[in-house]
Amino acid sequence: MKKLKTALFCLLLAGLQTNAQSMKPIYLDNSQPIERRVEDALSRMTLEEKVALCHAQSKFSSHGVPRLGIPEIWMSDGPHGVREEIQWDSWGNAGFTNDSCTAYPALTCLAATFNPEMSHAYGVAIGEEARYRRKDILLGPGVNIYRTPMNGRNFEYMGEDPYLASVMVVPYIKGVQQNGVAACVKHFALNNQEEWRGHINVNLSDRALYEIYLPAFKAAVEEGKVWSIMGSYNQLRGQHCCHNDLLLNKILKTDWQFDGAVVTDWGGAYDTKQAALNGLDIEMGSYTNGLSSKAKFGYEDYYLAKPFLDLLKKGEVPVSVVDDKARRVLRLIFRTAMTPNRPYGRFVCEDHSATARKVAEEGIVLLKNDKQFFPVPVGKYQRIAVIGENATRSVTEGGGSSTLKVKYEVSPLDGFISKYGKEHVTYSMGYASGPSLYDREEPSKLNADSLIKAAVETAKNADVVYFVGGLNKNHFQDAEGGDRKNYSLPYGQDKLIDAILKVNKNIAIILISGNAVSMPWVKDVPAIVQTWYLGSEGGNAIANVLSGAVNPSGKLPFSFPKKLEDNAAHSFGKIAYPGDSINEYYKEDILVGYRWFDTKKIAPQFAFGYGLSYTTFEYGKITTDKTTYKADETVKVSFTLKNTGKVDGAEAVQVYASQPKASVIRPAKELKAFKKVFLKAGETQTVSVDVKVKDLAFYNEKNMSWTVEPGEFVLRNAASSAEVKSSVAIQVK
Ligand code: BGC
Repeated sequence: MKKLKTALFCLLLAGLQTNAQSMKPIYLDNSQPIERRVEDALSRMTLEEKVALCHAQSKFSSHGVPRLGIPEIWMSDGPHGVREEIQWDSWGNAGFTNDSCTAYPALTCLAATFNPEMSHAYGVAIGEEARYRRKDILLGPGVNIYRTPMNGRNFEYMGEDPYLASVMVVPYIKGVQQNGVAACVKHFALNNQEEWRGHINVNLSDRALYEIYLPAFKAAVEEGKVWSIMGSYNQLRGQHCCHNDLLLNKILKTDWQFDGAVVTDWGGAYDTKQAALNGLDIEMGSYTNGLSSKAKFGYEDYYLAKPFLDLLKKGEVPVSVVDDKARRVLRLIFRTAMTPNRPYGRFVCEDHSATARKVAEEGIVLLKNDKQFFPVPVGKYQRIAVIGENATRSVTEGGGSSTLKVKYEVSPLDGFISKYGKEHVTYSMGYASGPSLYDREEPSKLNADSLIKAAVETAKNADVVYFVGGLNKNHFQDAEGGDRKNYSLPYGQDKLIDAILKVNKNIAIILISGNAVSMPWVKDVPAIVQTWYLGSEGGNAIANVLSGAVNPSGKLPFSFPKKLEDNAAHSFGKIAYPGDSINEYYKEDILVGYRWFDTKKIAPQFAFGYGLSYTTFEYGKITTDKTTYKADETVKVSFTLKNTGKVDGAEAVQVYASQPKASVIRPAKELKAFKKVFLKAGETQTVSVDVKVKDLAFYNEKNMSWTVEPGEFVLRNAASSAEVKSSVAIQVK
């Protein structure tokens, strides 16, 4: 009897549970497909609730649906670390003490690794930090193309080549999103300068748009399956990019079938009807009605807030428009905050430091190394003079929205001291930048001549000089909101280098920057290293590479021109860059970066794809599996690579393609494949890469589609865009 009672009780309980489960609204039921949950949630929402999803509720968050228990969306910059907490209503920091993050190398460095595995590791690690900090969207990565070395934000992007940026952006996104955090690829599109970024109207050909400026975004959407994308501040063909019909409705949402949410750049919306109809989903950072003071400013005034609701109520905008936006935002929430089994993330841990250091070490580029200046192993020199402000300056702070509050940052000087020992290292500042990040170009209060004098004294008494200079994150250097004013090194560094050279020629120039700079001293110095902004582990990574603990393998993700006018955009004068303040014309068209240098036969100072190693590599002749291909086939390219030196090392091999005879201009060569190959000293490997014939196409403006013109194509294996090893011709039918 007792058994029967228990059984009946259990049955009743099970029945109740089933009932309770079936009562659970579909949108809360994790076992249901996301699309069903989205539709269910949408069907329960009022018009007001749908509109609320489309705009900010604070500086870095947007509404959920409180009545239905659907959470808010929390966002954070991006792209090199998770930014400190910001106040609800202003840009000021919120004063938290638990938000000091790990700083990862800037994306120029990541691109310089030429290693998609590094990109994935980076994405996973930064995604974990974003998740731990309870962010739903990480505002990055950035993939605007490096068009001019003057762009203050190049350091946040992945270089000048659309293929490199496309390959590198995808694993970053996947790594971030596996944490249940959305990546937000930015800035879509053509935000290639900071000067007049809020309104400059970019005029360019369809070919340049599709071949150069869009591919990385396309890869982010189609291959990376990115969940959100940020519009850019500038205009394209007379329309702001945050509500640009061509970019958002036609290309992104129709052609590429993007199913995520389009977020404005902060304050990038200008008009309710356009924002409603031209593809924007979430409006952030607006100062509507021309108001900018907190007292007068209300989130309800946003273009996609009450004014949007009014248009919907009047029937001037169909309800289907807000439904589409709400669907996208809900989908984003279900993919992030409401996803089951979302991991919890991790924050500032040894693994993250190790990832930051590894990316930094792989991204550092050795540009010049006469008579094997480097490596400088521990014990080789007794007296090492370290000169230059960047040896001690924080480079994780500043630069605009990517600024970071870090748990720690190892400076180059710290790195040298721990590597070589305190007793062997002497530091002298040498030059000084403005006293604060925001002091624009105001000179430092420190006396330049006495700084030089002291540095020269230090250099005179040293066995070797490590000059650590470059740019920094001050306004008008590598920073958001302004472009550089000069191509040369700032703060009198050229003069300082000359003065040092007079007393000590055993000097290495270690450049910290996200941009190319002119190098009037290039022939006079035996060694040059490009080290980017490397984040928390920067000093350790630099010391590891320079001492030989790590063999450098980074390659330049953009060309270094000898002089600014050699760069494509600059060779057309002001109308091509920065424009006449209203319009700008991309006259160089598709010939951006090395495409320009190669096609016009202008020698750069250092070419795209270039970088030295402590070992040497011998390339075998390039071969293909066949000689004739159809348009839907893949060319299997292979060649041998031998490490002919005495140390283990890695080489980023590159394969470029060209079509010598075509009905349109084609660049002298274009990157179509690359691979980072790790080889032990003396080891040989056969390198195999695929090139799809369809990727040899150009964008045909006549019929607005990609066209592969039949005929001969030449494939080349190369160590850089300027160092071709061998070539092979194929026929495409
Ligand atoms: C930047 C974005 C950034 C946003 C939020 C804007 O000024 O252009 O890249 O994500 O601010 O900080």
